[in-house]
Amino acid sequence: MSLAITSAAVVIAAGVYWYLNRHKRVKHILSELRYALDMQGAGAGGLIDDWVNVWRNKIVLPDANKRIAVITGGARGIGTEVVRGLLKAKMTVVMGIRRPELAKKLAETMENGHKLHAFQLDLQSMKSVKEFADSVLKEFPEIHLLVNNAGIMFGDYRLTEDGFESQLAVNYLGHFYLTHLLLPALKKAGNKVQPSRIVNVTSCGHFPGYIYFDDINMKEHYDTTAAYAQSKLAQIMSARYVDKILEQDGVNVKCYSVHPGIVDTDLFEHSNFKKFPWLKKMFFKTPEKGAVSILYACFDKEIEDRGGLYISNCKEGFSNRFSKNAEHQKKLFELSCDLLNFNADKFGVVCQ
Ligand SMILES: NC(=O)c1ccc[n+]([C@@H]2O[C@H](COP(=O)([O-])OP(=O)(O)OC[C@H]3O[C@@H](n4cnc5c(N)ncnc54)[C@H](OP(=O)(O)O)[C@@H]3O)[C@@H](O)[C@H]2O)c1
Repeated sequence: MSLAITSAAVVIAAGVYWYLNRHKRVKHILSELRYALDMQGAGAGGLIDDWVNVWRNKIVLPDANKRIAVITGGARGIGTEVVRGLLKAKMTVVMGIRRPELAKKLAETMENGHKLHAFQLDLQSMKSVKEFADSVLKEFPEIHLLVNNAGIMFGDYRLTEDGFESQLAVNYLGHFYLTHLLLPALKKAGNKVQPSRIVNVTSCGHFPGYIYFDDINMKEHYDTTAAYAQSKLAQIMSARYVDKILEQDGVNVKCYSVHPGIVDTDLFEHSNFKKFPWLKKMFFKTPEKGAVSILYACFDKEIEDRGGLYISNCKEGFSNRFSKNAEHQKKLFELSCDLLNFNADKFGVVCQ
């Protein structure tokens, strides 16, 4: 009896869902359903991983005086806590933020706040990324750490001024371009004893992800969940591939990607959690705890020879199979250079 009721409920729900989406092609409806379910699964898996491994979230900050860190975002959310940690470690920190005028107030709340600098950066615009990189390089010709932290999640379909889907542009392409532009300074600062580091802040939300090589801006069909997953997957693949090519070239720069945990921040403004903020307060990490895995990727000595590592809760995390495929990584790297109009063999060599 209960099986019959459940089956009827599933059929009715499927019928209502189909009716509401009847203007869409069946393959798109199925794909959206698959992403919705898989993203819930990835989120639940992430929460369980956080609860089980909360005890691992510890980092002893080193003395990194005279070393330079660049971070995207940082005026709020997890980024603020990463900045706090970097300053505590006595690093000079350069934030790339949309409203640099906020930095002064922020600096007043932090230990070693006088070491905080900020330049304007809007990752939706590749022109802004270039201007930011130029400003940083002018003052800091050597950089020891780049944290690609800023990010957005979900929202309506939007193309940036460069014609890129907005989550792809902000989460991945803008950071890929910034990495390319700052690499000469990262190479200069790194040495065998202490290589420079690039840390991509990604997400367990990459797990359902796939790279739409033939339609990376999702013009044929937009699913905001798929777009977020694609952008976060690209960050992991890029960390792995860039680390590999730098290693082959004997360059002293290591790349990592990190999932910070499921963290109570404004990132969820386009999700159902906006309506239930108490749920976030009850079950999610605080931004301070979320920053720990990122600081671990920035400083931990034991991962020095494990470039390309995907980290979650200060240990190797579970990443999807697509992200590990070397051919997919290479294809994404070449496509990204193509989209940004520079030759793949000039990556990180010449500033363009
Ligand atoms: N929160 C989580 O549960 C969670 C889980 C997995 C991964 N992550 C990742 O962690 C990172 C930080 O997220 P968060 O939770 O701290 O989110 P958040 O509180 O919403 O902060 C996002 C940051 O990104 C910046 N940003 C957004 N769009 C930008 C743009 N176009 N140009 C420059 N900066 C921009 C924001 O700056 P403005 O103040 O100017 O908007 C802000 O500093 C993201 O990459 C996110 O995907 C978070």
